[in-house]
Amino acid sequence: MNQLAGRIGVVTGGASGIGRAIAIALAAEGATVLIGDVDEPGGLETCRIIEANEGAAHFWPLDVSRENDWKRLVAMTKEKFKALHILVNNAAICISRPLLEMTFDSWRRQMAINLDGLFLGTKAALPLMTESGGGSIVNLSSVAGLRGVPGMSGYCASKGGVRMFTKAIALECAQARNNIRVNSVHPGSIETPIWLKLGNDGALPAADARRNADVMADIRAAGATATPVGHSGVPEDIAAGVLYLVSDGARFVTGTELVIDGGVMAG
Ligand SMILES: NC(=O)c1ccc[n+]([C@@H]2O[C@H](COP(=O)([O-])OP(=O)(O)OC[C@H]3O[C@@H](n4cnc5c(N)ncnc54)[C@H](O)[C@@H]3O)[C@@H](O)[C@H]2O)c1
Repeated sequence: MNQLAGRIGVVTGGASGIGRAIAIALAAEGATVLIGDVDEPGGLETCRIIEANEGAAHFWPLDVSRENDWKRLVAMTKEKFKALHILVNNAAICISRPLLEMTFDSWRRQMAINLDGLFLGTKAALPLMTESGGGSIVNLSSVAGLRGVPGMSGYCASKGGVRMFTKAIALECAQARNNIRVNSVHPGSIETPIWLKLGNDGALPAADARRNADVMADIRAAGATATPVGHSGVPEDIAAGVLYLVSDGARFVTGTELVIDGGVMAG
């Protein structure tokens, strides 16, 4: 299938986990995908996977919390590709720390990436998307944007903000009649490296394959216990939802929240 042929899309955080799966899924449907990330080796590896499947992908160094990075990315997109139809604001960090142990610097860093990044990226992309005749913006929130999680006050606050920012911008776009739809996706427990970074202020701990494998095994077991269907999800489960939201089949869908969580929010 080639349902996104001719479309140009930006996926932030496409160097790892869910963002990588989204980039692969969009490219498999014919989109040209620009991967914006601070992790250059990871981003280039995503490009390599896409190109090995005859898709089109490019890496662009991007710190989503820096306005100038966004301006450069959008200017390059306009110059090189002449259009922008899809923006997936996926990059985020998760810092797990009780409030009294959370420094203001850590709180601010998480907000800067998870929430300022959304503001900056959406603001930078909207004019080119409008010029391109419209498009679709998908923002990665979380079930932690729908309910509280102890030890994750900052992450929950940022993801709740993602949810409501999405709805407000969806209505602004609807009022502007610019043919841009804006939706949020709320994953439950998905097996990705984000879990290895939780206790390390959102950064990947020094490579220790055995320790990391042990942590992932614990995460898998915890995910299975906490998820009604009895197992965690995989990044492709989320990519399938994003693919729907950016497709023409979702042309009447805006301002909504797609929960993909194995039943967590049903109870
Ligand atoms: N994995 C889960 O269980 C889960 C659950 C709910 C929501 N989510 C959300 O899904 C999204 C993807 O998470 P993931 O699990 O794939 O995480 P991940 O850690 O595997 O990937 C995150 C990516 O974001 C990039 N990134 C971090 N800071 C950045 C910055 N300042 N600028 C640009 N890129 C930056 C990282 O380099 C990495 O490639 C996030 O928004 C996360 O909050 C994940």
